[in-house]
Amino acid sequence: MIADISAARGAALAQIEAADSLESIAALDTQLLGKKGSIAQLKTKLGGLATVDEKKAAGQAVNEAMQAVSSALAARRVELGTAATAARVEAERLDLTEFAVKPERGHAHLVTQSWERLEDVFIGLGFQVAEGPEVETDWHNFEALNMPIGHPARGEWDTLFLDHAAPGEDVGRTVLRTHTSPVQIRTMLSGMPPIYIVAPGRVFRRDTPDATHMPVFHQIEGLVVDRDITMADLAGTIEAFTKAFFGADFSSRLRPSYFPFTEPSAEFDIQRPDGSWLELGGCGMVHPNVLRHGGIDPEEWSGFAFGFGIDRMAVMRHDVADIRDMFVNDIRFAEQF
Ligand code: PHE
Repeated sequence: MIADISAARGAALAQIEAADSLESIAALDTQLLGKKGSIAQLKTKLGGLATVDEKKAAGQAVNEAMQAVSSALAARRVELGTAATAARVEAERLDLTEFAVKPERGHAHLVTQSWERLEDVFIGLGFQVAEGPEVETDWHNFEALNMPIGHPARGEWDTLFLDHAAPGEDVGRTVLRTHTSPVQIRTMLSGMPPIYIVAPGRVFRRDTPDATHMPVFHQIEGLVVDRDITMADLAGTIEAFTKAFFGADFSSRLRPSYFPFTEPSAEFDIQRPDGSWLELGGCGMVHPNVLRHGGIDPEEWSGFAFGFGIDRMAVMRHDVADIRDMFVNDIRFAEQF
């Protein structure tokens, strides 16, 4: 009897050892420890033993076998459970190493950097930022700026015209704005003086790209309209801007020029610390006709305006040899700045 019990015990332990999944352990649990299990079956035979001592010894052996099977099952369950968890962790593993290194950050485009610095400097001087549409009416772009149809100065701006009217519809003549000056008109029409605004934006001209020109480029317009504004205010503002933007060792000058929308008109130049001069943009006192088109009485108000290119500032600041390089989106170029 004792031999049978020990044989059943050995067989059970071998089965448990061979089990390779939590499911088979669960099956073995009912099979080995249940009423119909091999060891429990031996228990039913205890009554047939001859002596009390034999019964006692065999009963003890059966209990011990049950114990051994039960703890073997528990141990194997833990073993398989740990392996299953490890397998699941391995299967669900995420590679997070890319987050361990600092991601590379890009930076704003050179033109955007200059644009934002210009805005900052002018905001510091008390200006507000205004904007207008890139697709503009002929009236805003030319006529209201004192250039009626047929005015010879229109030829100064190599204009791209737009033909987008539906058949039979009259939308007037529309252009891609050739300068930011139409924002002067829109600003005057949208509110009364005092006006102190700058208007950065994209402008378009029919032009072949070369090292110093792009058909699409950026300007910033300035407009001041208030009481008793004079040319001295214009010169003082240009000078204050020059020092704030380029540095205290730069200065500015105005040179007589002509624009239909300002009278008198000037070009303004800045002088570098080495004494050399650089032409920056145009400016002047807002022409009375322009004020009138903006709904402002020139007897009561006066103003000045200026405009210059933003892209050239970026080119100068970073010594870019060819302006076209700034617009081809070549990462090897962009990463240098
Ligand atoms: N709009 C002019 C240009 O594109 C510049 C300018 C602006 C001149 C304002 C005078 C006053 O050349």
